[in-house]
Amino acid sequence: MPELQVARLDGAQLFGRSAPLQVDLGCGDGSFLCELAKQFPRKNFLGIERLTKRVEKVRRKAQKIENVRVLRADTLFAVRHLLSESSVEAFYLLFPDPWPKRRHQFRRIFTRDFLDAIAAALEKHGVLRVATDQLDYFRQIEWLSRAHSCFEIADSHELVLPLTKFERTFREQGAPIYRLTLRKTSPVR
Ligand SMILES: C[S@@+](CC[C@H](N)C(=O)[O-])C[C@H]1O[C@@H](n2cnc3c(N)ncnc32)[C@H](O)[C@@H]1O
Repeated sequence: MPELQVARLDGAQLFGRSAPLQVDLGCGDGSFLCELAKQFPRKNFLGIERLTKRVEKVRRKAQKIENVRVLRADTLFAVRHLLSESSVEAFYLLFPDPWPKRRHQFRRIFTRDFLDAIAAALEKHGVLRVATDQLDYFRQIEWLSRAHSCFEIADSHELVLPLTKFERTFREQGAPIYRLTLRKTSPVR
């Protein structure tokens, strides 16, 4: 099959400056993305979201925040084809769609292919931060992560992050939240 030719995003052009890039995958309403961008004005923040209405919402929220951009795209496509190799300092995958029914689980975003794409796009020692309220999904995420040769599991406790919209809801419901931080340790061969 011929290889897909797509122009990769140029961070400096997209943001009008060069700065470390952080990417929120499935950014939803963008509240987490915008809060984080305000906390770290020297970094660039990109949200990826596939639903048009949510992307429009994020655009409105981010209008006056200079270091935020949002892209309507599929997460795997964007990580694999639109981001350049070793260009991302941190990815966030916060409360990805859980697809709890067994027959739907093939739709879950976190797979070996997803991790391969993340490993290629992350810079040396870059991190992927994941959170979910679904224990069985979390176990699957942990298992896939431990089996991948490019990552080590890092300590997630040192960082206090803004709450996402879903996290706020889960906290109100008293639901457990499971977190994992992966650090890229090996170059992709
Ligand atoms: C459960 S919501 C969580 C949103 C946000 N991260 C939060 O915690 O509030 C999952 C989000 O991921 C988006 N999403 C799901 N699959 C996606 C994909 N393959 N590509 C891009 N966005 C996706 C959904 O549209 C939704 O906005």
